[in-house]
Amino acid sequence: MLDFSKVIDRRGTDSYKWDGSDRALGNTECIQMGCADMDFEAAPELVDALRAVVEHKVYGYATLSPEFAQGVVSWYSTRHHVAIKPEWVLHSPRIVVSASVVVRTLSQAGDKVILHTPYYPPLDSATQSQERVAVEPPLVLREDGRFAIDFEQLESIVDESTKLMIFVSPHNPTTRVWTRAELEQLAAFCVKHKLYLFVDEIHCDFTAPGHEFISMLDIKGPIQERLIVVNSAAKSFNIMGCAISYLIIPNDELRHTIEQAFVKAGEEDTNIFGNALMKVAYQKCGYYVDEVNAVINANDEFLREQLPTVFPKAKIIPREGSYLMWLDLRDEFASEQEMQDFLINKAHIFWLEGSHFGSHFDGYARVNIGCPRATLEEMMRRLRAAKSA
Ligand SMILES: Cc1ncc(COP(=O)(O)O)c(C=O)c1O
Repeated sequence: MLDFSKVIDRRGTDSYKWDGSDRALGNTECIQMGCADMDFEAAPELVDALRAVVEHKVYGYATLSPEFAQGVVSWYSTRHHVAIKPEWVLHSPRIVVSASVVVRTLSQAGDKVILHTPYYPPLDSATQSQERVAVEPPLVLREDGRFAIDFEQLESIVDESTKLMIFVSPHNPTTRVWTRAELEQLAAFCVKHKLYLFVDEIHCDFTAPGHEFISMLDIKGPIQERLIVVNSAAKSFNIMGCAISYLIIPNDELRHTIEQAFVKAGEEDTNIFGNALMKVAYQKCGYYVDEVNAVINANDEFLREQLPTVFPKAKIIPREGSYLMWLDLRDEFASEQEMQDFLINKAHIFWLEGSHFGSHFDGYARVNIGCPRATLEEMMRRLRAAKSA
């Protein structure tokens, strides 16, 4: 078992999560729990792979390794029980780049693109920044405290100018791990209305006990002709800074169209560091993902016990996947501003506020629990101190 209890000081490394957020806040007072990367070291096999590249001392252009696609095929087969072909896999530096290229390629200015709120904001930017019309239905809270797709609402908003749906599975920030029945219904909706379906599966390797990730690639039938799945080893192995992701597109014509669009955008090459990581991560480091999942599940249990001692009126949404917790704090604070004032200025903790994820979710907060237990204990200590001040 690797040591996930070690607290590593990431300040001073230009970490987006720590230094970026400190710079935005104008001080270094807060525990940073916003941006979705984890405060854990990478697997030693990945460190060795990077070291080999560094020590070679020539950092020229890289060409994609044949093991890249093979790693994706074997990961989807062994971890997620779905058979894909290596030729379906395309490389992209980042999922947010893929979203932008796909929106530009499969729709025209003025066309509608559906993306549920709450959303990961760059997916919204991919639509809004390209003069498409973002149609953003909210996920709805069911009686059992879980978020769900409102299919009736979807039927009421779709029309002939709707070309694409962007869907996140498992979902960030609600953490929903969609069931097969939900995915099938969504697929049927997209087929019925002739929408392309862009499914972002980057959070697929983290699931809470009792939940199983099902890939949209495993939903048989005509949706496969209109499907673009994007994914990355970045979240699973905590290597986000290495900008390496991929698309899986079963339909030959669609894949060719998207591949050409990447060429036109000048996004043909990979980078030598990410390339080296991809040769190792999916083939040799599955154990790392298992160990991180155990740590996250224990952190989730710890906070589910502890948070109500400070926020008795909070609704802690059941975590189904990812290393995030999604809290409804509307009964604790009169406004989101009051919530942020308490968290940032009094408790010195940075969580991402609900309005960051689009409209309808003011007063919610997303907490990143991909950190050592000691960080969560310090967070609880700060919350208690601020509450009793
Ligand atoms: C749903 C989702 N998609 C994509 C990303 C980022 O992926 P990339 O760094 O490959 O653009 C994130 C990161 O938080 C995410 O939560």
